[in-house]
Amino acid sequence: MRARFAAARPQGAYDLAFPIRKDGIAKADLPGLSDGDRTLAREAARAARFEGDSGAVVELFSGSDGAYRRILLVGVGAGEVTDFEKAGGALTARLLTSGAETLVVELASAGAVNADGAARFAAGAVLRGWRYDIYRTRLNAKARPTLAEVVILGAPEGTDAAWAHLQAVTEGVSLTRELVSEPANIIYPESFVERCQPLKDLGVEIEVLDEATMRALGMGALLGVSQGSVREGRLLALRWDGTGGKEKTPVALVGKGVTFDTGGISIKPAAGMEDMKWDMGGAGAVAGAIKALATRKANAHVIGVCGLVENMPGGKAQRPGDIVTSMSGQTIEVINTDAEGRLVLCDALAWVQRRYSPRVIVDLATLTGAMIISLGNEHAGLFSNDDALADSLLAAGKASGDPLWRFPLGDAYNKLLDSPIADMKNVGPRGAGSITAAQFLQRFIEDGVKWAHLDIAGMVWADKPGVAWDKGATGFGVRLLDRFIADNFER
Ligand code: BES
Ligand code: MN
Ligand code: ZN
Repeated sequence: MRARFAAARPQGAYDLAFPIRKDGIAKADLPGLSDGDRTLAREAARAARFEGDSGAVVELFSGSDGAYRRILLVGVGAGEVTDFEKAGGALTARLLTSGAETLVVELASAGAVNADGAARFAAGAVLRGWRYDIYRTRLNAKARPTLAEVVILGAPEGTDAAWAHLQAVTEGVSLTRELVSEPANIIYPESFVERCQPLKDLGVEIEVLDEATMRALGMGALLGVSQGSVREGRLLALRWDGTGGKEKTPVALVGKGVTFDTGGISIKPAAGMEDMKWDMGGAGAVAGAIKALATRKANAHVIGVCGLVENMPGGKAQRPGDIVTSMSGQTIEVINTDAEGRLVLCDALAWVQRRYSPRVIVDLATLTGAMIISLGNEHAGLFSNDDALADSLLAAGKASGDPLWRFPLGDAYNKLLDSPIADMKNVGPRGAGSITAAQFLQRFIEDGVKWAHLDIAGMVWADKPGVAWDKGATGFGVRLLDRFIADNFER
């Protein structure tokens, strides 16, 4: 499903939508409607108790001007950019499999709309229309998507640039959703890397470390997780430099890419284990963010690192109690092989610091089930050693639609990871599981480096449709990282 901005309605059949502000239906300009249809629309709104709340939809049918078509009123509430996104998403949700092929939207009915609002409307519509049907070979004709295009009229000057930006972001989100949706027999470390190769055509530089190279670098923590799988692990580095070499030090984004997490020898219960195909959602978000930045030629220097492994039990798998030596030189007693994400990330973090000396690092990971206990599916957890960095991420989260909530760090939590035999254990006690996981990562952050960790365990996959996604992969993190880079690092 695509969206475009235009000056005139297209030829042929289309449905017609009017965005309406809260309590705005009486005064709303409904351009192009006959007097009869205007009355019908207002009566339909009254009958349905439609008040213009953002995302509310009323549908009626008209035939008075010789063309039969659906007419939809969609609420945009107070007219904030997020309201427009919600409205765009609501229209797509309503029409995607309705038989409608083209939707025309007359923005004039919402009064003054700024370029960001208009672009977010389009982004909401496109993001909500994303589906992954490649494995459905018997999809009932009536369940197939019909809506192909949304044509938006009446957008202000500046909308083209705002939409070009957001369109790049939706392409990044789509890549992330695809990587997250694919099952683990299709996406494993090597095939994840292959799916990212097309980023080269956008000017992204790709570096791939195989297991032999990682062994030579001393990445014993990541390799300890990987050793139980017949799939080889990979470290994937995606570098986008839109500054033409002017900015020497990149911002680092680091993602957990466990392409399947059985738990290893500390095996997980069978019920729900299929969810662990999306334990690579952090790496997926990093790949999608790099795609968005490169597509829109962002004037920033960013390195995205994906730690890719499969966590399996088996004769070669690591055991509880094993001690591994990480690339940083620190030793880790692996108490629980299911706390594998931190083992992968600690070596990815060490590598990016040695290779690129970034001053700012943001990592994303489906790290702990405890995060879902804390925040459910409404916010990702944010942990940081720097208040200004935390604040800019919180702001980017709010603005982008990928919300965050900050948690504390501190010595008392850090001590819980001390081991009687090695430098640290890979798990703490039952309490504060998301915080001790973050403390573990912080042990691998060098002095002076600003670092934030996002535990996105509750956000990568949705059991019910949201504003800008259907059930399934959400693409969480891409919009957030794009906003974060745009607002803080673009020259
Ligand atoms: N990938 C899981 C965390 C997870 C669980 C994400 C459920 C999404 C949904 C992670 O590798 C894990 O297994 N964490 C353990 C840590 C524990 C052993 C300290 C957990 O949360 O149970
Ligand atoms: Mn695990
Ligand atoms: Zn995991």
